[in-house]
Amino acid sequence: MDLKIVLLGPPGCGKGTQAERLVAEMKFTKISTGDLLREGVRQGTPLGLKAKEYMEAGKLVPDELVIGLIKEKLAVTHGPVLLDGFPRSLEQARSLDGLTGIDLAVDIQVNEDKLVHRIVMRRSCKSCGAVYHLEFSPPKHAGICDKCGGELYQRSDDTEHTVRARLNTYKDQTLPVSQYYKEKGILRVVDGEGTIAQVYERITAAIRKG
Ligand code: AP5
Ligand code: MG
Repeated sequence: MDLKIVLLGPPGCGKGTQAERLVAEMKFTKISTGDLLREGVRQGTPLGLKAKEYMEAGKLVPDELVIGLIKEKLAVTHGPVLLDGFPRSLEQARSLDGLTGIDLAVDIQVNEDKLVHRIVMRRSCKSCGAVYHLEFSPPKHAGICDKCGGELYQRSDDTEHTVRARLNTYKDQTLPVSQYYKEKGILRVVDGEGTIAQVYERITAAIRKG
């Protein structure tokens, strides 16, 4: 059976980093609402234009817009699926249940003081979205993506001020989603501290156990 997995956790916990490796090694298709919304902002699509101000303020983009986006993507995605950054509100979690069954919700937990440091020193690839950290996983050549040679940039919401707002949004609106999956018996909480490889081992162990 094709697994459908949700990656939960606060900003900077490592959802994107771990998703990249799960896609490469376990053949998941990743659907990341953050990546899709940033692409929309870059291209100036109607969705991107609506989303921009919410993203830069560290708030959630309205549910109906994001649910519409996920609906479109799920309709054309086959095989094992990894949802990175969706659902992030109870409304989104309930809507997702109406679209597809979820097998597991992996909640990556990291102490708040570490999250800010992870985020303000993150660099992302403009072309392929690969994620780096200037201290913990730097690119081989400054400013250039190891994977595709694309240009690295700092996300406009990766300032300390916006990170604090994103953390508050997470606590208010996304923590209840963990509880929602806990009640369904499919929540797996994973320690997101330690090296990227250690966290990956914990996640794959949780997936194997089911
Ligand atoms: P989104 O892009 O999803 O951002 P986020 O949830 O805030 O998470 P991040 O991407 O910041 O962190 P991450 O967990 O992916 O960490 P990463 O692997 O990069 O959303 C952005 C915005 O879009 C939202 O604020 C909202 O406005 C909107 N949005 C998106 N989805 C939405 C939805 N469903 N509904 C409504 N609005 C939505 O790692 C971070 C850094 O740490 C990197 O530098 C990495 O190299 C480093 N790192 C990773 N793992 C480790 C480790 N083990 N040790 C040391 N460093 C590490
Ligand atoms: Mg991410």
